[in-house]
Amino acid sequence: GYDISALLKETGNVTLDAGFTNTASCTSAITYIDGDAGILRYRGYPIEQLAEQSTFIETSYLLIYGHLPSASELAEFTERIRQHTMLHEDLKGFFQGFPRDAHPMPVLSSAVSALSTFYQDSLDPFDKEQVEISTIRLLAKLPTIAAYAYKKSVGQPFLYPDNNLSLAENFLRMTFGVPATTYDLDPEMVKALDLLLILHADHEQNCSTSTVRLVGSSHANLFASVSAGINALFGPLHGGANQAVLEMLERINSADYDVDTFMAKVKNKEDGVRLMGFGHRVYKNYDPRAAIIKKTAHELLDRMGGNDELLDIAMRLEEIALADDYFVERKLYPNVDFYTGLIYKSMGFPTRMFTVLFALGRLPGWIAQWREMIEDPATKIGRPRQVYIGETERDYVALSDR
Ligand code: ACO
Repeated sequence: GYDISALLKETGNVTLDAGFTNTASCTSAITYIDGDAGILRYRGYPIEQLAEQSTFIETSYLLIYGHLPSASELAEFTERIRQHTMLHEDLKGFFQGFPRDAHPMPVLSSAVSALSTFYQDSLDPFDKEQVEISTIRLLAKLPTIAAYAYKKSVGQPFLYPDNNLSLAENFLRMTFGVPATTYDLDPEMVKALDLLLILHADHEQNCSTSTVRLVGSSHANLFASVSAGINALFGPLHGGANQAVLEMLERINSADYDVDTFMAKVKNKEDGVRLMGFGHRVYKNYDPRAAIIKKTAHELLDRMGGNDELLDIAMRLEEIALADDYFVERKLYPNVDFYTGLIYKSMGFPTRMFTVLFALGRLPGWIAQWREMIEDPATKIGRPRQVYIGETERDYVALSDR
C-alpha cells in the first residue's frame, strides 16, 4: 500500500535494488564471469584450463598476486604456507568448548575470528607485510582448523600437520588419519579434492565475498572479514547448498516421495521446496564448473564405489529439469553444488563437512578480494541506503495510557 516511486524520490532519488541484482559494488580485476555464455576465468585464465593443468596452491597464488608464479615464486609460496600449518596449542583447546554435535561451519568461523586474538601483531590492513603474513597464516591454518572441527565432531584426537605433504594431502590425513597409524593417501582422491578446491576458489561478488569486502570496508582485519564470509557461506542458498542437495537426494531415496512427486512439489512451490543445486544468479545458460565436475563425479563414483542410487536420482532430476518448461523458462541449470556433495560423500566426508570444503576452496578468493578492496583508493565504507516505509512521526504514549 505505498507508492514506491514517490518514496524513492523522497529519499533523494536512490535506487532500490533488493539483492543487488543490478548494482556493481566495486571494480575488480580478479574473476570474469559471462553468465549467458557460461564463461568463468580467474585473472583471464579459463577455468577449464586451470582445472586441467593447475593446482590449488598455484591457483591461490594466481588469484592473490595476479599472475601465474614462476617456479621459484611457487616454491617459496608453498614453503611459507608449510611453515604455518600448525595451530597455537591454546587455539587447539578452543575446540573443546563446543558441543560435540556442533556444526563445523560456526566452529570454523569462530576459530578464524579467534586468529585475531592470537596474531595481534599483524592486524593492520594497511601494512603490506602484516597483510602478507596474515594471508599465509590463513591459507596454512584453515585446513588444520577444518580438520580439527571434524575431529572434534567424531571425538577423535587431533593430528599435527605433516609438512612433507601438500595442502590437500595434509588436510585428508588430518581429517581421516588416526594417531599412531599410517594413513594411506589415495592419489585419485587427492587430485579430485584439489580440483574441487580450484573450482571453488573465486566467484567474484557472490554473497560471502561481498560480505568479506563489506566487513573489510570498515577496515576490519583480514581474519575478522574472512570469518564473516564463512558465516555468509553457511546459508543453504549459498555454500550450504551442497549439504542441502545431498539431504534432498537422501530424502527422495528414502521414499518420502519419488522423483516425479518431488518435481511437482518444486514446480508448485509447495512449502518453498526448491530443486537444490539448480539455478544461479549469474549463470543463465550453464555453470562451467558443473560441467567439469559432472565428469569427475561419474569417474570417481565408478572407481570409489559411491552411492549409485543417489547419483541415479541426481541424473534423473537433471534430465527432467532440462526438459521441463518451468526450469527452461527460468533458465535454471545445475550449479557447481549439484554434483559436489556426491563426490564428497564418496570420499567419506559426512554431509556437515561439505560446506567446510567449499570454504577451504573459496579462501584464496576471499583473500584476493579483500586485498584488492583495501588497496583500491576508490574504496569507501560500504553503507547502502534504504527506502523507509514505516510509521510517519507520532507522539510517544505513556505506558499507563496504552
Ligand atoms: N528450484 C525451483 N525454482 C527455482 C530455483 C530452484 N532451485 N531457483 C530459482 N527458482 C525459481 C524461483 O522460484 C523464481 O520463480 P518465479 O519467477 O516464478 O518467482 C525464479 O526461478 C527466479 O528465482 P530467484 O530466486 O529470483 O533467483 P535468484 O537469482 O534470486 O536466486 C539462487 C539464485 C539463490 C541460486 C536460486 O536459484 C536457488 O535458490 N537455488 C537453489 C539453491 C542453490 O543451489 N544455491 C547454490 C547457488 S551456487 C553457489 O552458491 C555456489
